[in-house]
Amino acid sequence: MIDQATIDRIMDAAQIVDVVSEFVTLRRRGVNYVGLCPFHNEKTPSFSVSPSKGLCKCFSCGKGGNVVHFIMEHEQLNYYEALKWLARKYNIEVKERELSEEEKQAHSLRESLFVVNQFANQYFQEVLYHQLEGQRIGMTYLRGRGFRDDIIKKFQLGYSTDNRDALARTALQKGFQEDYLVKTGLCYRKEDGSLRDRFWGRVIFPVHTLSGKVVAFGGRVLNAATKNVQMKYVNSPESEIYHKSRELYGIYFAKQAIVRQDRCFLVEGYTDVISMHQSGIENVVASSGTALTPEQIRMIHRFTNNITVLYDGDGAGIKASIRGIDMLLEEGMNVKVCLLPDGDDPDSFARKHNATDYQAYINEHEVDFIRFKSQLLLEEAGKDPIKRAALISSIVKSISVIPDAIVRSVYIRECSQSLQMEEKVLVEATAKLIEQARENRYKEAQRRQNQENRRAAQVASALAAGTPLPPTAPTSGTPTVPPLPEAPVPPIHGEVLPSDVPPAAFPPPPAVPEEEPYNSFIPQEGNEEKVFYAKEEELVRMIIRYGEKMVCYIETGEGEQVPLTVIQFISEGLKEDDLQFHNALHRHILKEAESHAADPNFVAERHFVNHPDPAVSTMAAELVSDRYQLSKYHSKAQKIVSDEERLYELVPRLLIDFKMAIVDEELKHILHALNNPSVANDPQRCMEMMQRYKDLHDTQRMMAQRAGDRVVLKV
Ligand code: CTP
Ligand code: MN
Repeated sequence: MIDQATIDRIMDAAQIVDVVSEFVTLRRRGVNYVGLCPFHNEKTPSFSVSPSKGLCKCFSCGKGGNVVHFIMEHEQLNYYEALKWLARKYNIEVKERELSEEEKQAHSLRESLFVVNQFANQYFQEVLYHQLEGQRIGMTYLRGRGFRDDIIKKFQLGYSTDNRDALARTALQKGFQEDYLVKTGLCYRKEDGSLRDRFWGRVIFPVHTLSGKVVAFGGRVLNAATKNVQMKYVNSPESEIYHKSRELYGIYFAKQAIVRQDRCFLVEGYTDVISMHQSGIENVVASSGTALTPEQIRMIHRFTNNITVLYDGDGAGIKASIRGIDMLLEEGMNVKVCLLPDGDDPDSFARKHNATDYQAYINEHEVDFIRFKSQLLLEEAGKDPIKRAALISSIVKSISVIPDAIVRSVYIRECSQSLQMEEKVLVEATAKLIEQARENRYKEAQRRQNQENRRAAQVASALAAGTPLPPTAPTSGTPTVPPLPEAPVPPIHGEVLPSDVPPAAFPPPPAVPEEEPYNSFIPQEGNEEKVFYAKEEELVRMIIRYGEKMVCYIETGEGEQVPLTVIQFISEGLKEDDLQFHNALHRHILKEAESHAADPNFVAERHFVNHPDPAVSTMAAELVSDRYQLSKYHSKAQKIVSDEERLYELVPRLLIDFKMAIVDEELKHILHALNNPSVANDPQRCMEMMQRYKDLHDTQRMMAQRAGDRVVLKV
C-alpha cells in the first residue's frame, strides 16, 4: 500500500499531457490537445486531453479518465501499479503504507509465492542458456521446432534438467522456504519428507498474468522422451495465486495488439501462441486445451468484442468446444470460426506463412459461428427430416435472442444459405419467436401490476381498520400463473418509530461515525434504467462538479443570511425526508463530501477525481466528463447559461425529482415484499411494513405539496 502523502506527490507531479505524450502524438487544439486514440483503431483523432482538468477522453470509444486511469488502461495495470509506474517516471520515491497484520499475512503469502515463481522462472532460463544440458537438449529442441532466439527470450522459455530435485536444492540453498516451493506447486514432498521437483527433463513455458507476473508453468517433454512418458505436458497445480480458469496463456503479450486490431484469435496451445507471434500475429491467446470459462471470456471482452477461434484442419475437438462458444455469444461477442487447411494447426500454419498471408487466409475462410454450427449440425442430421426441422428451429431460436436487429438479419441471411431455406421463412419464424417473447414479458408485467394494485388496496383498507394484512390469495386456482419470485425482505431498523417519540428515545449516536444503515426494499442491483437512479447520478455529478459552490442563502433563526453549498443543500434536503442515495458508492461520496463541508479550500472535483480509491476516482472522472453535461439551457434573455450559473434552480429541481422517484420506487417494492408469504404470516412484521408504507406515502404527499409551492419560483 502506498501512503496518501506519496499518492498526493505523484498526482501533483504527473502532468497528463506529458504522460499521454509517451504513447500518443498530441497536437494542440485550443486549450486542449488531441491525438489518435490509443485504445481503438482510428484515422481521425478523437482522443482529447485537457491539461487544466487533468483528464483525457476518447470521444469515439469513451475511454479515458485521469492520469492514473490512462496508465491503468493503457498498460493494463491496477491502481497501485499505475501509481508506481508514474512514480518511476517522475523519480518519486514510493513509501509503502504499513499493512495491518492480516493484510501482511495475506499479502506476504501471495507475494512470496510470486517471488518464488519469479526465481524459478529465472532459474529455468538460466539452465536453458547457461547449463550444458539446457543448451544441448533444451535449446536444441526449441530451435529445432523453429522458434527464433528472440521469441524464446520474449516468452521466457526455459528448461529443467533431468535431475529430479535440482530446482529444490538450488532454491533451498538460496534461502527460499520449502513451504512456498510446495505451495506454488514447483515441488512436492515425497513420503520420506524429501522434496522433489514437479518439472524435470522438460522445456518450460511460464504462464503470465495480465500484468506480466508468472503464476504457473507448463513443462513439455521432449520428443525423444515422449515414448516413456504419458503426459506431454505437466502443468502447475492450482494454488493460492493460480486459478487456471482465470488465466489465459499469452494475454500479457497480446493485450495491446488485441486492442489495436480490435480482434482476438483463440487457439489451443502454448506453441500455437508462440509460433503466431513469431510470424507477426500478436493478438492471440490460448485456452490451454480446455473449454473457455466465463472469467476468461470476460478478460478477452475487456479488450475487444471480436473473437475468431482457430481450429486444426482435421476438426478434432470442435464439437467439444461448441458449448464454450455458445457462452461467447451469450456474452454478446461476435464469434467467428476459422478452419485451417487439413493437417495444419495454428502452429504449423504459422511456420509456413507470414503474418500478411496468415491474416488473408483467416479473412477469407472465417465464418460466423451460427453458420458454422448449423453446417456442423446439418452434416450430423443428414437427410432425416425430423432432425433437420429440430435443427432449424434450434438455430432460429438462438438468432431470436440476439438483441440487435441488424445483426439478426445478417445471421438470418447466412443461415438461409447454409440451411437452404428461404430467407422469408426464417425471418417469419424469428419474428414469431420475438413476438412471443415480447408478449410473455408484457403479460408478466401486467400480472404484476394487477397484483400490486390489489395489494395496495388491501393495505389501505387493512390500515384503516387497524388489522394486519390478510395473506395473499392462494394461487392454486390459477395454475398457469408462475409463482412470484420471493421478494427479499430487509430488516427495518428504527425508521418506523412514530414521529412523536421524543429524541431521547433514539439510540445514542455511535462514537465513531460509521456508515449509516441503509434499509431499502429496492434490490441493490439492476437499477441503472430507473428514473430515480438517473436523478441520483445527476445529483452525485453536481456534488463532484460543483460541491463547494453556493446554491442559495438561507435564513437562520436570528435572521442571518448564510450561504448553502451544493453539498449542504443535497445533504440537508435528503435528511429532511429521511432519504438516502441508493447506490453505496454514491452514499459514500456524499458522506465524504459532507465531512469536508467546513473546509474553505475544499474543491470537490479535484478531491474526487484524484481520489485514492479507484472506484471513486473512476466514477468522478466519468461524471465530470462532458458526456454528462445537461443540455444547454436558454434563459429568458436567450443567453446560453451554464449549469454553474443556474445551480440555484437546477439542484433543487433535481433533488425533488430524485426524492419523488425513489419514494415511488420504494413503495412499489414494499408492496411486493408484503406479498412474501413469510411476511403475511408474521402480523408484527406485517404491521411494521405497512406502517413504513404509510409513512413513505405521507412523505410523498408532503413532497408533492412542497414541490407545488416551489413551482411558483419557476414562473
Ligand atoms: N495440454 C496439457 N496437457 C496435455 C496436453 C495438452 O495441458 N497433456 C494443453 C497445453 O496447454 C497445450 C494445449 O493443451 O498447449 C494444446 O495441446 P496440444 O495441441 O497437444 O499441444 P501443443 O502446445 O500444440 O504442443 P505441440 O505442438 O508441441 O504438440
Ligand atoms: Mn501443436
